[in-house]
Amino acid sequence: KKKIIIAIDGFSSTGKSTIAKLLAKKYNYIYVDTGAMYRAVTLFAKQNNFVDKDFLDDNALILNLKQITLSFKFNKNLGFAEMFLNNINVEKDIRTLEVSQLVSKVSTISEVRKKLVAEQQKMGENSGIVMDGRDIGTVVFPNADLKLFMTASADKRATRRYKELIDRGDNVKFSEILFNVQERDRIDSTREDSPLIKANDAIEFDNSDMGIQEQFERICSLVDEKL
Ligand code: C5P
Repeated sequence: KKKIIIAIDGFSSTGKSTIAKLLAKKYNYIYVDTGAMYRAVTLFAKQNNFVDKDFLDDNALILNLKQITLSFKFNKNLGFAEMFLNNINVEKDIRTLEVSQLVSKVSTISEVRKKLVAEQQKMGENSGIVMDGRDIGTVVFPNADLKLFMTASADKRATRRYKELIDRGDNVKFSEILFNVQERDRIDSTREDSPLIKANDAIEFDNSDMGIQEQFERICSLVDEKL
């Protein structure tokens, strides 16, 4: 059977990774969460003190990019791959609000994007992949077989993200999550290098009021048409 590349882009917390994981499971594809890679680079910058309050030392990070090795390792119990930074599992550490507050700034740096995009393209060489992010259908795989673009109201998205963080025991306020979601969208959509935009040939899904299951079924029929 033919193996394809599925690109999923969209604003933060629109359920991209939920859909991507379901697709990967159903079609036996590899799922790559590119946001986790930008988050891991951000964590590296924090760990090495390239960040002081809101100030990020871009040059120090750029000079040290070679020290960063990213890898995904599949966790059977979870059913998806976890992010490793220099061979250490950082899956939990990259999902904090602190990392979320800095990641969009890190993601504006072209040298960072160049490194990660090259790694992502390599992972897609053999197709059979579903990748989510902000520039997958526009920059990483402009020839992807199927492109999806996810949206939802900021309030719905912040509510989802807030619940995720509270459920895992983080002490956060809804207002700061809402602010973070909107601020990231603003930075991601307005940056010069690879801004978040819908590719011309992407199919848009607004899931403000649509359940994941209904959406997943619709997306599966789009995938099946391509196989
Ligand atoms: O997907 P997630 O919300 O974890 O992504 C975190 C951040 O990483 C985004 O807000 C964006 O700044 C950056 N990102 C990106 N390009 C991608 C994936 C994520 O710039 N392909």
